[in-house]
Amino acid sequence: MANILVVYYSRGGHTAKISNAIAQKIVAIGNSCDVINLNDTQQPIDWAQYDAVALGACVLYGSYHKSVFEFCRQHHQDLAALPNSFFCVNVVARKPEKRIPENNKYLQKFLALSDWKPQDVKIIAGKVDYPSWNWYDSLAIKLIMKITDGPTDSKAVIDYTDWNDVDVYAEHVARLAQA
Ligand SMILES: Cc1cc2nc3c(=O)[nH]c(=O)nc-3n(C[C@H](O)[C@H](O)[C@H](O)COP(=O)(O)O)c2cc1C
Repeated sequence: MANILVVYYSRGGHTAKISNAIAQKIVAIGNSCDVINLNDTQQPIDWAQYDAVALGACVLYGSYHKSVFEFCRQHHQDLAALPNSFFCVNVVARKPEKRIPENNKYLQKFLALSDWKPQDVKIIAGKVDYPSWNWYDSLAIKLIMKITDGPTDSKAVIDYTDWNDVDVYAEHVARLAQA
């Protein structure tokens, strides 16, 4: 049995939902798992108790919230000391070819800018949710969607996440812990 840590940054809640689904699967196959919001700094992380770590973040305006890079700056040694994986959530990844690391510019950006260089990476398609976004964010994402042939209807709420594939990723993270 492995003890696994999932750390995430989520702005609207979808990356949090994916993180919890990963944890649920990890537990369902006989391990234990903690899920931590990287901005929830109530308690310092006791890294020594974990056998592997996965860190997930959503893409915002072509990059990541600064707290993601700050967390990686502070904890790159802790992250690298364990079997580790990074998962990146974005809506361009609704296209299968954009889930290939070499083809996803957001993942490449993370690898270039982060002090932590993950040993393993995963790209997960996120959610379009115009009704929950303010007019400015909606407008900006509609522009991205227009360029990439995605939905631009203001009422669109589309979950592009392949939840079976999230389970497969969770099993993969659990296997990393055994390595
Ligand atoms: C303000 C904002 C900017 C975004 N920018 C991008 C982007 O540049 N590229 C992209 O593929 N997805 C972009 N997205 C889509 C998010 O990555 C996607 O909705 C994700 O599921 C959000 O996760 P969260 O609910 O955990 O914040 C953006 C979403 C928001 C709200």
